[in-house]
Amino acid sequence: MTTEETDVSQDKLWGGRFTQPTDKFVEEFTASIGFDKRLYHQDIRGSIAHARMLGKQGIIPIADVETIVHGLQQILQQIEAGEFDFSISLEDIHMNIEARLSAKIGEAGKRLHTGRSRNDQVALDIRLYLRDEIVEIVTFLDLLIDALLNKAEVNLDVVMPGYTHLQTAQPILFSHHLMAYVEMFKRDIARMEDCLKRVNVMPLGAGALAGTTFPIDRLYVAEQLGFPAITRNSLDSVSDRDFALEFLAASSILMMHLSRFSEELILWSTSEYKFIELSDSFCTGSSIMPQKKNPDVPELVRGKTGRVYGNLMALLTVMKSLPLAYNKDMQEDKEPLFDTIDNVKGCLKIFVDMIREFQVCELNMRRAASQGFSTATDVADYLVRKGLPFRDAHEAVGNAVKYCVENEMDITELSLTEWQLFSPYFDNDIFAAITIEASINARNVPGGTAREMVLSEILRCREGS
Ligand code: ARG
Repeated sequence: MTTEETDVSQDKLWGGRFTQPTDKFVEEFTASIGFDKRLYHQDIRGSIAHARMLGKQGIIPIADVETIVHGLQQILQQIEAGEFDFSISLEDIHMNIEARLSAKIGEAGKRLHTGRSRNDQVALDIRLYLRDEIVEIVTFLDLLIDALLNKAEVNLDVVMPGYTHLQTAQPILFSHHLMAYVEMFKRDIARMEDCLKRVNVMPLGAGALAGTTFPIDRLYVAEQLGFPAITRNSLDSVSDRDFALEFLAASSILMMHLSRFSEELILWSTSEYKFIELSDSFCTGSSIMPQKKNPDVPELVRGKTGRVYGNLMALLTVMKSLPLAYNKDMQEDKEPLFDTIDNVKGCLKIFVDMIREFQVCELNMRRAASQGFSTATDVADYLVRKGLPFRDAHEAVGNAVKYCVENEMDITELSLTEWQLFSPYFDNDIFAAITIEASINARNVPGGTAREMVLSEILRCREGS
Protein backbone atom coordinates (compact mmCIF):
# COMPACT_ATOMS: atom_id res chain seq x y z
CA MET A 1 0.00 0.00 0.00
CA THR A 2 1.50 3.36 -1.01
CA THR A 3 1.34 6.42 1.25
CA GLU A 4 -1.33 8.06 -0.86
CA GLU A 5 -3.43 4.98 -0.22
CA THR A 6 -3.01 4.90 3.58
CA ASP A 7 -5.86 3.07 5.07
CA VAL A 8 -8.82 5.10 3.85
CA SER A 9 -11.13 2.29 4.83
CA GLN A 10 -11.22 3.28 8.50
CA ASP A 11 -12.46 6.74 7.65
CA LYS A 12 -16.12 6.63 6.74
CA LEU A 13 -17.12 9.31 4.24
CA TRP A 14 -20.19 9.96 6.37
CA GLY A 15 -18.38 9.61 9.73
CA GLY A 16 -19.00 13.21 10.89
CA ARG A 17 -22.21 12.67 12.85
CA PHE A 18 -21.20 9.35 14.43
CA THR A 19 -19.50 8.73 17.77
CA GLN A 20 -19.39 4.92 17.73
CA PRO A 21 -17.83 2.73 15.05
CA THR A 22 -20.08 0.51 12.92
CA ASP A 23 -20.56 -3.02 14.17
CA LYS A 24 -18.49 -5.38 12.03
CA PHE A 25 -21.38 -7.58 11.07
CA VAL A 26 -23.61 -4.58 10.36
CA GLU A 27 -20.89 -3.36 8.08
CA GLU A 28 -20.88 -6.63 6.16
CA PHE A 29 -24.65 -6.80 6.20
CA THR A 30 -25.13 -3.33 4.72
CA ALA A 31 -22.27 -3.41 2.23
CA SER A 32 -22.97 -3.84 -1.48
CA ILE A 33 -19.37 -3.70 -2.69
CA GLY A 34 -19.32 -7.50 -3.09
CA PHE A 35 -21.67 -7.18 -6.05
CA ASP A 36 -21.81 -3.52 -7.09
CA LYS A 37 -18.10 -3.41 -7.89
CA ARG A 38 -19.06 -4.45 -11.36
CA LEU A 39 -20.39 -0.90 -11.81
CA TYR A 40 -16.88 0.56 -11.49
CA HIS A 41 -16.62 1.61 -15.11
CA GLN A 42 -19.98 3.34 -15.14
CA ASP A 43 -19.27 4.97 -11.77
CA ILE A 44 -16.02 6.45 -13.06
CA ARG A 45 -17.56 7.58 -16.35
CA GLY A 46 -20.38 9.27 -14.47
CA SER A 47 -17.98 10.96 -12.05
CA ILE A 48 -15.84 12.30 -14.88
CA ALA A 49 -18.90 13.80 -16.58
CA HIS A 50 -20.07 15.25 -13.25
CA ALA A 51 -16.63 16.77 -12.50
CA ARG A 52 -16.41 18.36 -15.95
CA MET A 53 -19.85 19.87 -15.47
CA LEU A 54 -18.92 21.22 -12.00
CA GLY A 55 -15.83 22.83 -13.52
CA LYS A 56 -17.69 24.31 -16.49
CA GLN A 57 -20.27 25.83 -14.14
CA GLY A 58 -17.59 27.30 -11.88
CA ILE A 59 -18.78 25.19 -8.95
CA ILE A 60 -15.31 23.73 -8.43
CA PRO A 61 -12.01 25.21 -9.66
CA ILE A 62 -11.18 24.29 -13.25
CA ALA A 63 -7.73 23.20 -12.11
CA ASP A 64 -9.31 20.55 -9.90
CA VAL A 65 -11.22 19.03 -12.80
CA GLU A 66 -8.18 17.70 -14.62
CA THR A 67 -6.72 16.41 -11.35
CA ILE A 68 -9.97 14.56 -10.64
CA VAL A 69 -10.24 13.15 -14.16
CA HIS A 70 -6.64 12.00 -14.13
CA GLY A 71 -7.05 10.44 -10.69
CA LEU A 72 -10.19 8.62 -11.75
CA GLN A 73 -8.50 7.32 -14.88
CA GLN A 74 -5.70 5.92 -12.77
CA ILE A 75 -8.19 4.24 -10.47
CA LEU A 76 -9.88 2.74 -13.53
CA GLN A 77 -6.58 1.28 -14.67
CA GLN A 78 -5.87 -0.07 -11.20
CA ILE A 79 -9.25 -1.79 -11.04
CA GLU A 80 -8.82 -3.26 -14.50
CA ALA A 81 -5.37 -4.51 -13.63
CA GLY A 82 -6.83 -6.20 -10.55
CA GLU A 83 -4.74 -3.97 -8.28
CA PHE A 84 -7.55 -2.26 -6.42
CA ASP A 85 -8.42 -3.47 -2.94
CA PHE A 86 -12.13 -3.07 -2.43
CA SER A 87 -13.04 -2.37 1.16
CA ILE A 88 -16.20 -3.59 2.85
CA SER A 89 -16.11 -0.77 5.37
CA LEU A 90 -16.44 1.66 2.47
CA GLU A 91 -19.74 -0.05 1.74
CA ASP A 92 -20.18 0.34 -1.98
CA ILE A 93 -18.44 1.06 -5.26
CA HIS A 94 -19.24 4.77 -5.08
CA MET A 95 -17.48 5.31 -1.74
CA ASN A 96 -14.65 2.94 -2.55
CA ILE A 97 -13.75 4.99 -5.60
CA GLU A 98 -14.34 8.38 -4.03
CA ALA A 99 -12.29 7.56 -0.92
CA ARG A 100 -9.44 6.29 -3.04
CA LEU A 101 -9.58 9.42 -5.17
CA SER A 102 -9.32 11.68 -2.13
CA ALA A 103 -6.50 9.58 -0.75
CA LYS A 104 -4.69 10.00 -4.07
CA ILE A 105 -5.30 13.65 -4.90
CA GLY A 106 -6.46 15.21 -1.61
CA GLU A 107 -8.64 18.38 -1.63
CA ALA A 108 -9.74 18.16 -5.27
CA GLY A 109 -11.01 14.63 -4.72
CA LYS A 110 -13.10 15.78 -1.81
CA ARG A 111 -14.83 18.30 -4.07
CA LEU A 112 -16.13 15.65 -6.52
CA HIS A 113 -19.30 14.83 -4.60
CA THR A 114 -20.52 18.46 -4.66
CA GLY A 115 -24.15 18.69 -5.79
CA ARG A 116 -24.50 14.92 -5.97
CA SER A 117 -25.71 12.09 -3.77
CA ARG A 118 -25.15 8.37 -3.94
CA ASN A 119 -28.87 8.13 -4.59
CA ASP A 120 -28.72 9.83 -7.97
CA GLN A 121 -25.24 8.41 -8.58
CA VAL A 122 -26.37 4.79 -8.26
CA ALA A 123 -29.40 5.42 -10.46
CA LEU A 124 -27.06 6.80 -13.10
CA ASP A 125 -24.65 3.88 -12.82
CA ILE A 126 -27.34 1.24 -13.22
CA ARG A 127 -28.82 3.02 -16.21
CA LEU A 128 -25.42 3.28 -17.89
CA TYR A 129 -24.74 -0.37 -17.18
CA LEU A 130 -28.09 -1.67 -18.34
CA ARG A 131 -27.95 0.40 -21.49
CA ASP A 132 -24.84 -1.42 -22.71
CA GLU A 133 -26.12 -4.81 -21.62
CA ILE A 134 -29.40 -4.37 -23.50
CA VAL A 135 -27.49 -3.55 -26.67
CA GLU A 136 -25.46 -6.73 -26.19
CA ILE A 137 -28.55 -8.85 -25.58
CA VAL A 138 -30.12 -7.49 -28.76
CA THR A 139 -26.95 -8.44 -30.64
CA PHE A 140 -27.26 -12.01 -29.33
CA LEU A 141 -30.93 -12.07 -30.36
CA ASP A 142 -29.93 -10.93 -33.85
CA LEU A 143 -27.44 -13.79 -34.06
CA LEU A 144 -30.04 -16.26 -32.89
CA ILE A 145 -32.54 -15.06 -35.47
CA ASP A 146 -29.85 -15.34 -38.11
CA ALA A 147 -29.07 -18.93 -37.10
CA LEU A 148 -32.79 -19.78 -37.27
CA LEU A 149 -33.19 -18.20 -40.70
CA ASN A 150 -30.26 -20.25 -41.98
CA LYS A 151 -31.68 -23.42 -40.47
CA ALA A 152 -35.09 -22.67 -41.96
CA GLU A 153 -33.66 -21.96 -45.37
CA VAL A 154 -31.51 -25.11 -45.50
CA ASN A 155 -34.47 -27.22 -44.35
CA LEU A 156 -37.13 -25.33 -46.26
CA ASP A 157 -38.87 -28.45 -47.61
CA VAL A 158 -38.61 -30.69 -44.57
CA VAL A 159 -42.08 -31.64 -43.36
CA MET A 160 -43.13 -32.42 -39.81
CA PRO A 161 -46.35 -32.98 -37.94
CA GLY A 162 -47.78 -29.80 -36.45
CA TYR A 163 -49.36 -30.34 -33.03
CA THR A 164 -52.11 -29.02 -30.87
CA HIS A 165 -52.43 -30.51 -27.36
CA LEU A 166 -49.25 -32.36 -28.37
CA GLN A 167 -51.47 -34.51 -30.60
CA THR A 168 -50.75 -34.70 -34.33
CA ALA A 169 -52.81 -31.95 -35.94
CA GLN A 170 -51.79 -31.03 -39.49
CA PRO A 171 -48.58 -31.40 -41.51
CA ILE A 172 -46.40 -28.31 -41.57
CA LEU A 173 -42.99 -27.33 -42.84
CA PHE A 174 -40.25 -27.64 -40.25
CA SER A 175 -39.02 -24.27 -41.50
CA HIS A 176 -42.43 -22.80 -40.63
CA HIS A 177 -42.04 -24.09 -37.09
CA LEU A 178 -38.58 -22.50 -36.79
CA MET A 179 -39.95 -19.25 -38.16
CA ALA A 180 -42.47 -19.15 -35.31
CA TYR A 181 -39.50 -18.71 -32.97
CA VAL A 182 -38.09 -16.00 -35.22
CA GLU A 183 -41.33 -14.06 -34.62
CA MET A 184 -40.98 -14.50 -30.85
CA PHE A 185 -37.37 -13.35 -30.80
CA LYS A 186 -38.21 -10.37 -32.99
CA ARG A 187 -40.78 -9.32 -30.40
CA ASP A 188 -38.14 -9.81 -27.70
CA ILE A 189 -35.88 -7.39 -29.54
CA ALA A 190 -38.72 -4.88 -29.82
CA ARG A 191 -39.43 -5.19 -26.08
CA MET A 192 -35.75 -4.73 -25.20
CA GLU A 193 -35.46 -1.72 -27.48
CA ASP A 194 -38.61 -0.19 -26.07
CA CYS A 195 -37.35 -0.68 -22.51
CA LEU A 196 -34.08 0.95 -23.54
CA LYS A 197 -35.99 4.20 -24.14
CA ARG A 198 -36.84 4.38 -20.42
CA VAL A 199 -33.37 3.23 -19.34
CA ASN A 200 -31.76 5.90 -21.45
CA VAL A 201 -32.73 8.89 -19.30
CA MET A 202 -30.21 10.78 -17.15
CA PRO A 203 -31.07 11.05 -13.41
CA LEU A 204 -28.02 12.88 -12.01
CA GLY A 205 -28.89 16.24 -10.48
CA ALA A 206 -31.66 14.89 -8.29
CA GLY A 207 -29.22 14.92 -5.39
CA ALA A 208 -30.44 12.96 -2.41
CA LEU A 209 -34.08 13.57 -3.37
CA ALA A 210 -34.93 17.24 -3.85
CA GLY A 211 -32.40 18.58 -6.34
CA THR A 212 -29.36 20.65 -5.46
CA THR A 213 -28.58 24.23 -4.47
CA PHE A 214 -25.70 24.45 -6.95
CA PRO A 215 -26.19 25.87 -10.46
CA ILE A 216 -25.58 22.53 -12.19
CA ASP A 217 -26.08 21.85 -15.90
CA ARG A 218 -27.89 18.54 -16.13
CA LEU A 219 -28.14 18.64 -19.90
CA TYR A 220 -24.38 18.94 -20.18
CA VAL A 221 -23.94 15.79 -18.08
CA ALA A 222 -26.52 14.01 -20.25
CA GLU A 223 -24.79 15.15 -23.40
CA GLN A 224 -21.37 13.91 -22.23
CA LEU A 225 -22.81 10.50 -21.39
CA GLY A 226 -24.91 10.19 -24.55
CA PHE A 227 -28.33 10.38 -22.89
CA PRO A 228 -31.03 11.87 -25.12
CA ALA A 229 -33.07 13.10 -22.12
CA ILE A 230 -32.98 13.90 -18.40
CA THR A 231 -35.41 12.77 -15.70
CA ARG A 232 -38.08 15.34 -14.83
CA ASN A 233 -38.70 14.90 -11.11
CA SER A 234 -35.98 14.60 -8.49
CA LEU A 235 -37.99 12.29 -6.21
CA ASP A 236 -38.82 9.98 -9.08
CA SER A 237 -35.22 10.11 -10.35
CA VAL A 238 -33.88 8.42 -7.21
CA SER A 239 -36.81 6.12 -6.45
CA ASP A 240 -37.67 4.84 -9.92
CA ARG A 241 -36.64 1.31 -10.82
CA ASP A 242 -39.35 0.79 -13.44
CA PHE A 243 -36.71 0.61 -16.13
CA ALA A 244 -35.03 -2.30 -14.32
CA LEU A 245 -38.37 -4.03 -13.83
CA GLU A 246 -39.21 -3.63 -17.49
CA PHE A 247 -35.91 -5.20 -18.36
CA LEU A 248 -36.55 -8.09 -15.97
CA ALA A 249 -40.03 -8.57 -17.44
CA ALA A 250 -38.74 -8.50 -21.02
CA SER A 251 -36.03 -10.96 -19.97
CA SER A 252 -38.60 -13.26 -18.37
CA ILE A 253 -40.63 -13.37 -21.57
CA LEU A 254 -37.48 -13.99 -23.59
CA MET A 255 -36.51 -16.84 -21.26
CA MET A 256 -40.02 -18.27 -21.56
CA HIS A 257 -39.45 -18.44 -25.33
CA LEU A 258 -36.06 -20.10 -24.90
CA SER A 259 -37.61 -22.52 -22.42
CA ARG A 260 -40.42 -23.55 -24.78
CA PHE A 261 -37.89 -24.04 -27.54
CA SER A 262 -35.70 -26.07 -25.17
CA GLU A 263 -38.63 -28.27 -24.28
CA GLU A 264 -39.22 -28.99 -27.97
CA LEU A 265 -35.55 -29.73 -28.61
CA ILE A 266 -35.58 -32.12 -25.65
CA LEU A 267 -38.72 -33.90 -26.88
CA TRP A 268 -37.49 -34.02 -30.46
CA SER A 269 -34.22 -35.65 -29.44
CA THR A 270 -35.87 -38.54 -27.56
CA SER A 271 -35.72 -41.99 -29.17
CA GLU A 272 -39.55 -41.82 -29.36
CA TYR A 273 -39.48 -38.75 -31.64
CA LYS A 274 -35.97 -38.72 -33.10
CA PHE A 275 -36.73 -35.60 -35.14
CA ILE A 276 -33.34 -34.09 -34.42
CA GLU A 277 -29.92 -35.04 -33.21
CA LEU A 278 -28.26 -32.52 -30.89
CA SER A 279 -24.55 -32.14 -31.37
CA ASP A 280 -22.52 -34.25 -28.92
CA SER A 281 -20.89 -31.13 -27.58
CA PHE A 282 -24.26 -29.99 -26.15
CA CYS A 283 -25.01 -33.23 -24.34
CA THR A 284 -23.52 -35.36 -21.60
CA GLY A 285 -23.54 -39.06 -20.86
CA SER A 286 -24.73 -40.94 -17.81
CA SER A 287 -22.34 -42.42 -15.28
CA ILE A 288 -24.46 -45.56 -15.05
CA MET A 289 -26.42 -45.97 -18.32
CA PRO A 290 -24.02 -46.38 -21.23
CA GLN A 291 -26.63 -45.69 -23.90
CA LYS A 292 -27.54 -42.21 -22.62
CA LYS A 293 -26.95 -38.91 -24.33
CA ASN A 294 -28.66 -36.28 -22.22
CA PRO A 295 -29.75 -32.89 -23.58
CA ASP A 296 -28.22 -30.96 -20.66
CA VAL A 297 -27.94 -27.63 -22.41
CA PRO A 298 -31.62 -27.16 -23.30
CA GLU A 299 -32.56 -28.63 -19.91
CA LEU A 300 -30.44 -26.04 -18.13
CA VAL A 301 -31.84 -23.20 -20.22
CA ARG A 302 -35.33 -24.42 -19.27
CA GLY A 303 -34.21 -24.60 -15.64
CA LYS A 304 -32.59 -21.16 -15.57
CA THR A 305 -35.87 -19.65 -16.71
CA GLY A 306 -37.03 -20.19 -13.12
CA ARG A 307 -34.42 -17.92 -11.59
CA VAL A 308 -35.03 -15.19 -14.15
CA TYR A 309 -38.76 -15.19 -13.27
CA GLY A 310 -37.69 -15.22 -9.61
CA ASN A 311 -35.55 -12.13 -10.14
CA LEU A 312 -38.52 -10.24 -11.58
CA MET A 313 -40.68 -11.25 -8.61
CA ALA A 314 -37.87 -10.33 -6.19
CA LEU A 315 -37.52 -6.77 -7.45
CA LEU A 316 -41.27 -6.22 -7.84
CA THR A 317 -41.64 -7.28 -4.23
CA VAL A 318 -38.76 -5.09 -3.04
CA MET A 319 -40.39 -2.07 -4.67
CA LYS A 320 -44.01 -2.68 -3.80
CA SER A 321 -44.34 -0.67 -0.59
CA LEU A 322 -41.42 1.70 -0.64
CA PRO A 323 -42.34 5.25 0.29
CA LEU A 324 -40.66 7.96 -1.78
CA ALA A 325 -37.84 8.54 -2.29
CA TYR A 326 -34.70 6.36 -1.89
CA ASN A 327 -34.73 3.52 0.63
CA LYS A 328 -31.87 1.15 1.34
CA ASP A 329 -34.11 -1.73 0.24
CA MET A 330 -33.33 -0.60 -3.29
CA GLN A 331 -29.76 -1.81 -2.94
CA GLU A 332 -31.40 -5.21 -3.45
CA ASP A 333 -32.05 -4.26 -7.10
CA LYS A 334 -28.57 -5.17 -8.26
CA GLU A 335 -28.20 -8.89 -7.70
CA PRO A 336 -31.45 -9.85 -9.49
CA LEU A 337 -30.48 -7.53 -12.31
CA PHE A 338 -26.93 -8.84 -12.67
CA ASP A 339 -28.03 -12.45 -12.33
CA THR A 340 -30.62 -11.94 -15.05
CA ILE A 341 -28.17 -10.27 -17.39
CA ASP A 342 -25.60 -13.05 -16.92
CA ASN A 343 -28.10 -15.83 -17.41
CA VAL A 344 -29.93 -14.32 -20.37
CA LYS A 345 -26.64 -13.67 -22.15
CA GLY A 346 -25.32 -17.14 -21.33
CA CYS A 347 -28.50 -18.86 -22.53
CA LEU A 348 -28.64 -16.86 -25.75
CA LYS A 349 -24.98 -17.47 -26.52
CA ILE A 350 -25.26 -21.21 -26.07
CA PHE A 351 -28.55 -21.36 -27.97
CA VAL A 352 -27.05 -19.78 -31.07
CA ASP A 353 -24.46 -22.54 -31.32
CA MET A 354 -26.92 -25.27 -30.44
CA ILE A 355 -29.27 -24.15 -33.24
CA ARG A 356 -26.42 -23.95 -35.73
CA GLU A 357 -25.26 -27.45 -34.92
CA PHE A 358 -28.24 -29.75 -34.48
CA GLN A 359 -28.99 -32.28 -37.22
CA VAL A 360 -32.44 -32.72 -38.73
CA CYS A 361 -33.76 -36.29 -39.13
CA GLU A 362 -35.91 -35.56 -42.13
CA LEU A 363 -37.25 -39.07 -42.76
CA ASN A 364 -38.43 -39.52 -39.19
CA MET A 365 -40.26 -36.22 -39.32
CA ARG A 366 -41.92 -37.15 -42.60
CA ARG A 367 -42.97 -40.55 -41.25
CA ALA A 368 -44.51 -38.90 -38.19
CA ALA A 369 -46.22 -36.29 -40.39
CA SER A 370 -47.98 -39.04 -42.37
CA GLN A 371 -49.37 -40.69 -39.26
CA GLY A 372 -52.18 -39.73 -36.94
CA PHE A 373 -54.61 -38.83 -39.75
CA SER A 374 -52.78 -35.55 -40.16
CA THR A 375 -54.56 -34.73 -43.44
CA ALA A 376 -58.10 -35.34 -42.15
CA THR A 377 -58.84 -31.60 -42.27
CA ASP A 378 -57.80 -31.61 -45.92
CA VAL A 379 -60.38 -34.30 -46.65
CA ALA A 380 -63.05 -32.19 -44.99
CA ASP A 381 -61.92 -29.11 -46.97
CA TYR A 382 -62.07 -31.26 -50.15
CA LEU A 383 -65.72 -32.12 -49.48
CA VAL A 384 -66.49 -28.45 -48.80
CA ARG A 385 -65.04 -27.54 -52.18
CA LYS A 386 -67.34 -30.16 -53.71
CA GLY A 387 -70.30 -28.36 -52.13
CA LEU A 388 -70.88 -30.03 -48.76
CA PRO A 389 -71.37 -27.71 -45.75
CA PHE A 390 -68.28 -27.84 -43.46
CA ARG A 391 -70.12 -29.40 -40.49
CA ASP A 392 -71.39 -32.28 -42.65
CA ALA A 393 -67.95 -32.72 -44.18
CA HIS A 394 -66.44 -32.84 -40.68
CA GLU A 395 -68.83 -35.62 -39.71
CA ALA A 396 -68.23 -37.65 -42.88
CA VAL A 397 -64.47 -37.53 -42.35
CA GLY A 398 -64.92 -38.38 -38.67
CA ASN A 399 -66.73 -41.55 -39.76
CA ALA A 400 -63.95 -42.36 -42.22
CA VAL A 401 -61.34 -41.96 -39.46
CA LYS A 402 -63.39 -44.23 -37.17
CA TYR A 403 -63.50 -46.83 -39.95
CA CYS A 404 -59.71 -46.59 -40.37
CA VAL A 405 -59.09 -46.95 -36.63
CA GLU A 406 -61.33 -50.05 -36.53
CA ASN A 407 -59.55 -51.57 -39.51
CA GLU A 408 -56.08 -50.49 -38.41
CA MET A 409 -55.36 -48.52 -41.53
CA ASP A 410 -54.48 -44.95 -42.51
CA ILE A 411 -56.81 -42.71 -44.54
CA THR A 412 -54.27 -42.70 -47.35
CA GLU A 413 -54.88 -46.44 -47.73
CA LEU A 414 -58.63 -46.14 -48.38
CA SER A 415 -59.85 -47.07 -51.86
CA LEU A 416 -62.27 -44.84 -53.73
CA THR A 417 -65.09 -47.34 -53.03
CA GLU A 418 -64.31 -47.09 -49.34
CA TRP A 419 -64.25 -43.28 -49.44
CA GLN A 420 -67.62 -43.33 -51.09
CA LEU A 421 -69.05 -45.23 -48.12
CA PHE A 422 -68.83 -41.91 -46.28
CA SER A 423 -69.87 -39.43 -48.95
CA PRO A 424 -70.93 -39.61 -52.60
CA TYR A 425 -68.88 -36.45 -53.24
CA PHE A 426 -65.60 -38.41 -53.15
CA ASP A 427 -63.93 -38.83 -56.51
CA ASN A 428 -60.56 -39.90 -57.93
CA ASP A 429 -58.99 -36.50 -57.20
CA ILE A 430 -59.18 -37.19 -53.43
CA PHE A 431 -55.85 -39.04 -53.56
CA ALA A 432 -53.87 -36.04 -54.81
CA ALA A 433 -55.63 -33.72 -52.37
CA ILE A 434 -54.43 -35.53 -49.28
CA THR A 435 -50.71 -35.94 -49.86
CA ILE A 436 -48.56 -34.17 -47.30
CA GLU A 437 -47.22 -31.69 -49.84
CA ALA A 438 -50.72 -30.88 -51.10
CA SER A 439 -51.91 -30.36 -47.57
CA ILE A 440 -49.03 -28.00 -46.76
CA ASN A 441 -49.08 -26.03 -49.99
CA ALA A 442 -52.84 -25.58 -49.87
CA ARG A 443 -52.32 -23.35 -46.82
CA ASN A 444 -51.26 -20.53 -49.01
CA VAL A 445 -52.54 -17.63 -46.91
CA PRO A 446 -50.24 -14.97 -45.44
CA GLY A 447 -48.74 -16.55 -42.33
CA GLY A 448 -49.60 -20.07 -43.55
CA THR A 449 -47.26 -23.04 -43.89
CA ALA A 450 -47.23 -23.24 -47.73
CA ARG A 451 -43.68 -23.34 -49.09
CA GLU A 452 -44.10 -20.09 -50.99
CA MET A 453 -45.32 -18.28 -47.86
CA VAL A 454 -42.55 -19.58 -45.63
CA LEU A 455 -39.91 -18.71 -48.18
CA SER A 456 -41.20 -15.18 -48.54
CA GLU A 457 -41.19 -14.80 -44.74
CA ILE A 458 -37.57 -15.98 -44.57
CA LEU A 459 -36.61 -13.43 -47.21
CA ARG A 460 -38.57 -10.65 -45.48
CA CYS A 461 -36.88 -11.36 -42.16
CA ARG A 462 -33.48 -11.46 -43.81
CA GLU A 463 -34.05 -7.95 -45.05
CA GLY A 464 -34.66 -7.02 -41.44
CA SER A 465 -38.35 -6.16 -41.69
N1 ARG B 1 -25.15 1.12 -2.36
C1 ARG B 1 -26.32 1.91 -2.46
C2 ARG B 1 -27.34 1.19 -3.37
O1 ARG B 1 -26.95 0.36 -4.06
C3 ARG B 1 -26.01 3.25 -3.04
C4 ARG B 1 -26.97 4.31 -2.61
C5 ARG B 1 -26.85 4.51 -1.17
N2 ARG B 1 -27.60 5.62 -0.72
C6 ARG B 1 -27.87 5.78 0.59
N3 ARG B 1 -28.56 6.83 0.89
N4 ARG B 1 -27.45 4.94 1.49
O2 ARG B 1 -28.50 1.49 -3.36
